[in-house]
Amino acid sequence: MKFKFFISTIFFLLSLCIAKAGEGMWMPNLLKLLNEKDMKDAGLKISVDEIYSTNKSSLKDAICLFGGGCTAEVISDKGLILTNHHCGFDAVQQLSSITNDYIKNGYWAKNLAEEKPCAGLTVTFIVDIKEVTNEILIGVRDSTAEKVRMDLIKKNIENCESKAIAEFKLGAQVKSFFGGNKYYLFITETFKDIRLVGVPPSSIGKFGADGDNWMWPRHTGDFSIFRIYTNKDNKSSEYSSDNIPYTPKKSLTINLKDVKENDFTMVYGFPARTTEYLPNQAIDITKKISDPIKVEIRTKKLAIWDAAMRVNDTTRIQYAAKYASVANGWKKWQGEMKGLERLDAIEKRKNQELEIRNIESKTLDNNKTDMIFKRLESVYGNYRKYLKMRDLYSEAGLGVELISFCNSINNVLTKMSDTKLSQDEKLKESTKIINASKKFYKDFDSNIDAKVFDNIFYHLNDSIFDTGLSVEIKKLFNNNFPTSKDVFKQSVFINKKLAVPLLDSNLYKIDIIKSDIAFKLTKTLVDYYNKNISQQILSIENELNELNRAYIKIVIDAFKNKKFYPDANSTLRIAYGNVKPYNPRDGVKYNWYTTYKGILEKEDANNDDYTIHPQLKKLFLDKNFGKYADKNNDLRIAFIASNHTTGGNSGSPVLNAKGELIGTNFDRCWEGTMSDIMYDPEQCRNITLDIHYTLFVIDKFAGAGYLLNEMKIIN
Ligand code: ARG
Ligand code: GLU
Repeated sequence: MKFKFFISTIFFLLSLCIAKAGEGMWMPNLLKLLNEKDMKDAGLKISVDEIYSTNKSSLKDAICLFGGGCTAEVISDKGLILTNHHCGFDAVQQLSSITNDYIKNGYWAKNLAEEKPCAGLTVTFIVDIKEVTNEILIGVRDSTAEKVRMDLIKKNIENCESKAIAEFKLGAQVKSFFGGNKYYLFITETFKDIRLVGVPPSSIGKFGADGDNWMWPRHTGDFSIFRIYTNKDNKSSEYSSDNIPYTPKKSLTINLKDVKENDFTMVYGFPARTTEYLPNQAIDITKKISDPIKVEIRTKKLAIWDAAMRVNDTTRIQYAAKYASVANGWKKWQGEMKGLERLDAIEKRKNQELEIRNIESKTLDNNKTDMIFKRLESVYGNYRKYLKMRDLYSEAGLGVELISFCNSINNVLTKMSDTKLSQDEKLKESTKIINASKKFYKDFDSNIDAKVFDNIFYHLNDSIFDTGLSVEIKKLFNNNFPTSKDVFKQSVFINKKLAVPLLDSNLYKIDIIKSDIAFKLTKTLVDYYNKNISQQILSIENELNELNRAYIKIVIDAFKNKKFYPDANSTLRIAYGNVKPYNPRDGVKYNWYTTYKGILEKEDANNDDYTIHPQLKKLFLDKNFGKYADKNNDLRIAFIASNHTTGGNSGSPVLNAKGELIGTNFDRCWEGTMSDIMYDPEQCRNITLDIHYTLFVIDKFAGAGYLLNEMKIIN
């Protein structure tokens, strides 16, 4: 019996709870402690000090957070940075106009003077990482009530950050790890003068668009190039025409040798969010409630948008960005549900939990563990219902463009009613909403949105809301649940000319706004949600904070000898793995790289997403690949490997065993998107744009080969 238990525990250790080959988003400052041997075994050829060091320059000094949520890497000693096309897209869109359509045609600065400042864009480097758990938990005891604990921690974090800012004269941010069991301080340096250097046309940078998104085999040339500018002292500065290119502490060397199957690779970047340590009940909610609801409602909305975009070019342009963003999550969640199903993730987690409850170890207090597991069961039981309401509210309610726009107006009105707000601040709020409304109306078609309303809003008539919400809503419509006819036709907010003047702070026609039917409907919905749902969610989440922290601690304590990586939280991480094919389904094996031939195969002259620029096609047909050809005289486009990545890793450098740049991460394979919750070494693959294709496009297609002179390239 004892032996059997021993065996099953070992099996559990090996198969489930510990990081599997390829699994993990590791903290770079802990590589020495946790990963060096494992990385060497997997093929790493440099010391981990060369990856991360605070005493001397290391690879970390070439990696930056790009904008709000992507990664970029320095590729020249003059501050040139490489990221994804979809990461630079906002900046490119802002610089584009009908006459200078850089989205469609691409853009290449021929010299520094032609590099285009991107207002509002910043990049941030990590200077140092320090553990500050003790400092942040000062005054906190096991017995401290959760609310008091949170307040104390908030205060301690503020103190710690302001002390660091004063000491280092740089940015500082404390982040929580392992559910609040540990805290780390990040010293950061942010640059604010970032300029666009080059971007390929969308037919390259977005090739395959939403159809190919999350999919392998892939052929998207998803890259764009920017440059960091500083003042004359190489220090961060707002945009100035006197600014000069940044001299980085480190820039990456590019290696043009062919990548081979099983090669060691690592991805260095800023993954945003994962939840790998969820109790079984939480996985169950994601798989059976959240993902299906969001997918069902978005399917209806996207079908309506798609039909409208196909028959009208104006609509196609108006809805392109919105479509891409709504479809991105929609597609990923479908892959996630399937992946969780195939992995039998809920059962696996239940078994892990059962094993933990059976472990006899000095570090685990079994009574306490039992109590935590029992409380989790009951709290998640309650949470389930509220999360369903939250998803319905945000997808079926705020998912209607008109409702979500009225909600922003409602937020502004709430702010404006604050008597402490000065005239100046009011003016600012009003300017903000006027600008937001101009942007909104530019891409809004009320007929399309009315159709969306009729197809999704009725979900809020669901009995899950205990009829309370429907009763409130019906009161506005003679006791009927509304259709679009009752809302859209009667509202001034479907009409830009009538709506925008209402929002001018001097003329603020609050009475007209408040009596508008779309506004009234929105306010009824939002008020009901805030009163009956969001408060409850907040209080459940306070309790879950405590329980999840305890849960993660139990898992870690149960396996003292094992290594754990914290969930992604937009801090700098290293993932490492090997170049590998995979089997997406029975009888099918995917090769680990793609070539230009796939672009020719996918070509569809009738579909903008799959057209090939004539000049690119000629290069392909002539096999004019220059030094970017592989040993078979093919041009490689993308490859996959077992690195554990997520959103935020877009634009991250993919490095070889010597830390040299071999590509840019831009996506994950669909079958493995459940890796945000549970990683599977058989199915989880990150997708890398091969650096050969990037340099080929710059050099041969764009004729911007002069940029290559700045780069260190080895053949
Ligand atoms: N799936 C990638 C990511 O999550 C790319 C998204 C942009 N591309 C698109 N077709 N929507 O960010
Ligand atoms: N495209 C994603 C991003 O923008 C990366 C894909 C993923 O989630 O792994 O960060």
